[in-house]
This record gives sequence, structure tokens and C-alpha cells, in this order.
Amino acid sequence: MHNDIPELPLNNGNRIPQLGLGVFQVDNAEDTKNSIKWALAAGYRHIDTAAYYGNEQWVGEAIRESDVKREDVFVTSKLWNSVRGYDETKAAFQETLDKLGFDYLDMYLIHWPAPGYLDSWRAMEDLYKAGKIKNIGVSNFNQKQMEDILANGTVKPVVDQIETHPYLQQDEMHAYLESKGILHEAWSPLGGGSNNALTDPVINELAAAHDVSAAQIILRWHVQREEIVIPKSIHEERVQQNRDIFAFGLDEDEMKAIADLDAGKRVGPNPDDEEWLKKSQTYSGRK
Ligand code: A2P
Repeated sequence: MHNDIPELPLNNGNRIPQLGLGVFQVDNAEDTKNSIKWALAAGYRHIDTAAYYGNEQWVGEAIRESDVKREDVFVTSKLWNSVRGYDETKAAFQETLDKLGFDYLDMYLIHWPAPGYLDSWRAMEDLYKAGKIKNIGVSNFNQKQMEDILANGTVKPVVDQIETHPYLQQDEMHAYLESKGILHEAWSPLGGGSNNALTDPVINELAAAHDVSAAQIILRWHVQREEIVIPKSIHEERVQQNRDIFAFGLDEDEMKAIADLDAGKRVGPNPDDEEWLKKSQTYSGRK
């Protein structure tokens, strides 16, 4: 299947490839570098990492070792919850850049709305204004937390990266983000782990009808909802397959059949869980 990966416009005039490769839980150099190598060869130009994942240095190495130029790849990283405060955030950002071996970052996100995020946002705004970060945004922010950023900040986040899959569709948040001109980016787009939508009978019926995989049906559903998707895989065939989602379409009835699967079931923490947010500030995933 030949197809091009579309770019979506961000609210600051920049653009983001709608499909990227996620590297959450890819915890060794070989898997990180291989999955990125396969992705770049298949035409991906967007990689999503985080300080917490502990693999930034391998992400940078994989890009440098490829034939693709640094400036042609959109790389996202994220500020972990244990880092708050203006100076601390700037220092953590520099550490991320150093690990990646880059002199700028395409997008930097506050990973979770753990307390103190407004000070971190101020530092990110200044790094954005200085050109060190091309785009700034947040992850796992609910409506109230986003309102806080919008009311107190001077730069609008370009995205909110939130858990989204057929069993947690986030319709209300999607409509809210759309009303603010903020793109909805989906993490765990395939539903991950125990909550796996990949085995859902409705998804598999659609997969058979289109002669594609269950994963391709789910990713196609996301992109038709104007979301950015960052599926992770450490298998070459899956990395390639997940990219081939732009040469077929789901019609209204098919989109509705998937919409009906929404069950409000999370695989990750809830951004409303203040106890978890506070606890997450006591550890760091850095290696
Ligand atoms: P693996 O890395 O072993 O391929 P999510 O991004 O929603 O959390 O889902 C990621 C999970 O889905 C990973 O465990 C990944 O496993 C698996 N996965 C990724 N792409 C596919 C695919 N095309 N078919 C089946 N499983 C996939």
C-alpha cells in the first residue's frame, strides 16, 4: 500500500505528522534503535519519547545513524512529574536535549498535571520564545487543568496528549480541545495491555471486511477523528503495518460501530487522581 502521512496544522502555524512512532516501555538500545530505524525507512517522520522512558539517548543515536536529516524528523519529549519549578524545568529540558544530542526540540510536553505545572509552563514558554523548543504542549491534562494553563499562560498549548482508544474515546475532551484549537493526540491508541481493543469482535469484523489488521482499523478510526496517533511496536512488520492507514477509509456506519464500543475504561492513571499525581513526583524514570 502506498500512502503519504498527512501533516496537521498546529495553532501556532507549525505542522505535525499525524502518525508517529511511540517508544514508551522500549527500555533497551537495540529495540529503541531498531524500531526507529524501521519507522524512518517506512516513512515515519515523527518520534514520541519522554524523559521518563529512559531511552532519549538511543532515540537521538537512531536518528543520527539514519539517512534522514535531524530537521526532517519531528521529535517530542516530555517533562517528568518530579521536575517542577522554573529553573528546574529549564535544567531538565537541557538534560533532555543533551541525551538526545540535539540543539532544539520539535515538541516538549508537560507529561502529567502534577502540582507545580504552572511554573514549568512558564519555563517552557520562555524556551519556546527563545526558539529552543518549536512547539509546547501538555499531556494528560483534563479540562480544568487546561483552563488553568490557558488562564495563566501566554502561549496556548498545541496539543494535549491523552489516553484514547476505542474503549476510552474521550469525546467530551475531544470537543473541548477542538473548541480551543488544541489538537488531540492519542496515547495507547491500540488500547494496550489487558484492555486490548485489538481482539474486539467488532474491530475484527471491520478488519476482515477491509482486508487489513485490527490495529489498522483502530488507527484509521483515530486519524478520521482528526487525532494524532503514536502507536508503539518493536516488531518490524507491525511498524510498517501501522503506517499503512491512509489508503483506505471507514464510512459513517463503520465509524459509528466503533463509537459504540466506548466503555470509559482506562489502562493508565486518571488525571483526576491527585494522590497518584503527588506520588508520581517522588520517582523518576531516568537512567
Ligand atoms: P509490540 O511492541 O510487541 O509490537 P499502544 O500503543 O496502544 O499502547 O499499544 C501498543 C501495544 O500493541 C504494544 O504492546 C505493541 O506490541 C502492540 N502492537 C503495536 N502494533 C501492533 C499491530 N499492528 N498489531 C498487533 N499488536 C500491535
